Amino acid sequence: PALLLPAAAGLVLTPATRTHSSAAAPHARPTIRAVLDVDVSQQRVPVPAAFFEKSDGLLNGKAAYDEMYQRSVDDPSAFWGEVASQFHWEEPWSEVMSYNFAPSKGEVFTSWFKGGKTNVCFNALDRHVAAGHGDQVAFIHEPNEEGETVKSYTYAEVLDEVQRLANVLKEKGVRKGDRVSIFMPMVPQLPIAMLACARIGAVHSVVFGGFSAEALSGRLIDAQSTVVLTADGVMRGVKPINLYDIVQAATKICGEACMEVEALVVLKRLPDSDKTPTLVEGRDVWWSEAIASADPKCDVEWMDAEDPLFVLYTSGSTGKPKGVLHSTGGYMVYAATTSKYVFDLQDGDTFFCTADCGWITGHSYVTYGPMLNRATQVIFEGVPSYPDNGRLWRIVDEHQVTQIYTAPTAIRALMRSGEGPVKASSRKSLKLLGSVGEPINPEAWRWYFEVVGDSRCPIADTWWQTETGGIMIAPLPLEGWAQKPGSASLPFFGVQPVLITPEGKEIEGPGEGLLAIKAPWPSTIRGVVGDYDRYVTTYFPIEGEEYGYYLTGDGCRRDEDGYHWITGRVDDVINTSGHRIGTAEVESAVVLHPDVAEAAVVGFPHPIKGEGIYIYVTLNEGVEQSDELLQALRMQCRGEIGAFASPDVIHWAPALPKTRSGKIMRRILRKIASKDTDADSLGDTSTLADPSVVDTLIATSPLA
Ligand code: WT7
Repeated sequence: PALLLPAAAGLVLTPATRTHSSAAAPHARPTIRAVLDVDVSQQRVPVPAAFFEKSDGLLNGKAAYDEMYQRSVDDPSAFWGEVASQFHWEEPWSEVMSYNFAPSKGEVFTSWFKGGKTNVCFNALDRHVAAGHGDQVAFIHEPNEEGETVKSYTYAEVLDEVQRLANVLKEKGVRKGDRVSIFMPMVPQLPIAMLACARIGAVHSVVFGGFSAEALSGRLIDAQSTVVLTADGVMRGVKPINLYDIVQAATKICGEACMEVEALVVLKRLPDSDKTPTLVEGRDVWWSEAIASADPKCDVEWMDAEDPLFVLYTSGSTGKPKGVLHSTGGYMVYAATTSKYVFDLQDGDTFFCTADCGWITGHSYVTYGPMLNRATQVIFEGVPSYPDNGRLWRIVDEHQVTQIYTAPTAIRALMRSGEGPVKASSRKSLKLLGSVGEPINPEAWRWYFEVVGDSRCPIADTWWQTETGGIMIAPLPLEGWAQKPGSASLPFFGVQPVLITPEGKEIEGPGEGLLAIKAPWPSTIRGVVGDYDRYVTTYFPIEGEEYGYYLTGDGCRRDEDGYHWITGRVDDVINTSGHRIGTAEVESAVVLHPDVAEAAVVGFPHPIKGEGIYIYVTLNEGVEQSDELLQALRMQCRGEIGAFASPDVIHWAPALPKTRSGKIMRRILRKIASKDTDADSLGDTSTLADPSVVDTLIATSPLA
């Protein structure tokens, strides 16, 4: 079917050709794209002329990008050296970049701005205040309850609270290089906490407030983090989340593992009630009291460019979540530069990223990138569906938001209410719409473009990862840069994506393969906490003849125009509602239940979440399946990981398909979960120890 986009947007429609079917991909699983848009066409949508009425564009058209991109890959040191010199460096660097991505050639490493000394907090705050912008609004706090009166922060106010909090941390014994954990609601004090750490050189580890005590304790222990910044709780929609209680429970688990949490700084966010926690004497302090009595001046710690800025835990295909390490200098330069060009961030803009700072998106596109560009931002504590599906659009009008950055899963959830809630707002202030977290299916793209943006705003479909630190592939809003719904299009400056075969051969021109990146960009992952081997085997397993690659874990197709179409993860990572979960983590949670003999977890296409969580469970002999057990297994996932890891489907499986050597054939489980079970799709099942298992599973599918 042809795309029905308004002619007013000045569209040039090329004939619709069937160009992508995920079933044809050698590795990729069926994605949401396959469910909603079997036919992904090659429509080109130019940046709407209306955009250029709001912006001159930061570059003079696509040709200017082409020229800059070429320069950035031909001479990365010259290119990034020039960009980096726009920041404050206390001491200059001696070498812009060096690296090794090939394990056979020695230690794998990436280094940017070696020898340089800087401080990210100084660049995000002091620099702007010193230049006379202290009175500019930094954070507009949009509370959970519409209309509640809450404090917004100017840059000077942020700087003040950051310095005080930094001094509180110092009083608690935090020193440069120590790891501080942050388990907070999405309120201005969350980025403030991160910046306070950055100021004194403490490495922050933000844990998303939706994680369970079990998951939090694992991260505290792995990071050896004994100081935690938290809150009593928060309302998310109609649900209270008692963060303090979760931290308390986590500290008990830490205690059992012989790690004492030494200090909590607790922000009070809920009204006084019988639920208000009683703090532990000597260990805990209320945030407001601590900062009120703290010294308001705190000098910055000048950091080496390669000193770590933060660690952020993320799921992989195997084992426990790993602590991804990011650097100071390179991360700063890249987060700032991508923010500026991808979102056309300019003076007077009000940027609204809906992501929580518990994820990388909130790190790079709330706390760091926009602040380094001196943006005014909306910090949204609530959820897009509360009190109703019109909330985001009212926020846009209320604060005259110029760019919104959200996830396809949110867009699809809002689409269900139709155009009404959107059209009840004006949205005239918007100039650009961003998308992140998973492939945006063209149907959601069209709705975002036409309904939300009234065909006036370009869409920035941004592909990147926790490990990449910043946006890697995304269209820039420039004259002559056609967008294709569902494609993140072309790489950012300095990024060299390549497609490789499973054998490690580069694919030239159009084709499909594993997405890898040749050579480092400034915010390349610097390591995995405490596990060099895992860092190397996960991200640098492939070596070409001359050099190695950073392996992304995603599949990708490149079309005739060089545009990139991400086909989804090729490993055992599930992307559900924009949250990344390892199948192994969910499996470990489920098998902890005494009635469970075995479990296998796969993702399956889900109309709203992108991917849903599908669990095959084999019960111990003599145990009967029941609704109670079903509920118990759900609780098991919530308790071990968090509510977002609750399974969508539990399939009572009499047995699992295994090879003769006992390996579970996940390929087949994925097919059954996505109801793609004709003989052609299932492929060869003859290597199974008992091929009849497949028929049994198809017959017992709860989706049938
Ligand atoms: C994975 C990374 C990047 C910040 C949020 C998620 C998927 C992300 C896109 C996109 C297609 C995307 C990939 C990637 N992904 N953005 N625009 N198009 N896929 O960070 O939790 O580290 O997850 O999200 O599969 O590998 P993350």
